[in-house]
Amino acid sequence: MLMDDVIGRIEAYNSPGEEKIYEHLSARIKSHDSMVDKCRKKGLPENCHSALKEITDSCGVRIVCDFIDDIYKNVEKIRAFTGCRIVTEKDYISNAKSNGYRSYHIIAEFIEPWEDADGNMPGKWYVEIQLRTIAMDTWAALEHEMKYKTEVKNQHLIESELKRCADELASCDLSLQTIRKLIREE
Ligand code: GTP
Ligand code: MG
Repeated sequence: MLMDDVIGRIEAYNSPGEEKIYEHLSARIKSHDSMVDKCRKKGLPENCHSALKEITDSCGVRIVCDFIDDIYKNVEKIRAFTGCRIVTEKDYISNAKSNGYRSYHIIAEFIEPWEDADGNMPGKWYVEIQLRTIAMDTWAALEHEMKYKTEVKNQHLIESELKRCADELASCDLSLQTIRKLIREE
């Protein structure tokens, strides 16, 4: 229900006839096992309050864009949603992580006409929204694959190659955006 609402709102502003500001959208609900793991790591009791009120990424949406500019256009659209409060924002595009990771993260709280884990009515529900370019998304998937493999040969070499790639992709993303701007100026 929550995810249908959030996805519906995001799809609505990217509808045919409007400027297409993202390429695709994906969503996931954190699995029971990863939620239990996360509660344990954070030293939280394994209950609904921890999962839905202390941990803010039980519901995740990823918006993948063609161009960096578009990421910020999506952020503005999300800011304008009614019944939605932006709780935190992290701009790992302006401030890339040291491993090269880039994305824009928002934790948003949606007000919905059904009860939440604390018994509030209307309920307040957290959603983590990650916004990336296609290049950032491809990179993050590969880096994630490495991170979650227990043993990786040449780990340091792979990490430094990933960092180099992330910086090259960032430079290409910027060039593509500049070229689009030049084309559109005519
Ligand atoms: P968690 O890691 O979710 O506990 O939260 P955090 O407070 O560290 O949040 P952050 O916004 O930094 O990261 C949230 C999510 O972004 C992660 O769960 C990943 O999906 C993604 N992410 C963050 N950093 C990296 C990274 O270095 N590599 C990859 N592949 N994904 C990352
Ligand atoms: Mg997470």
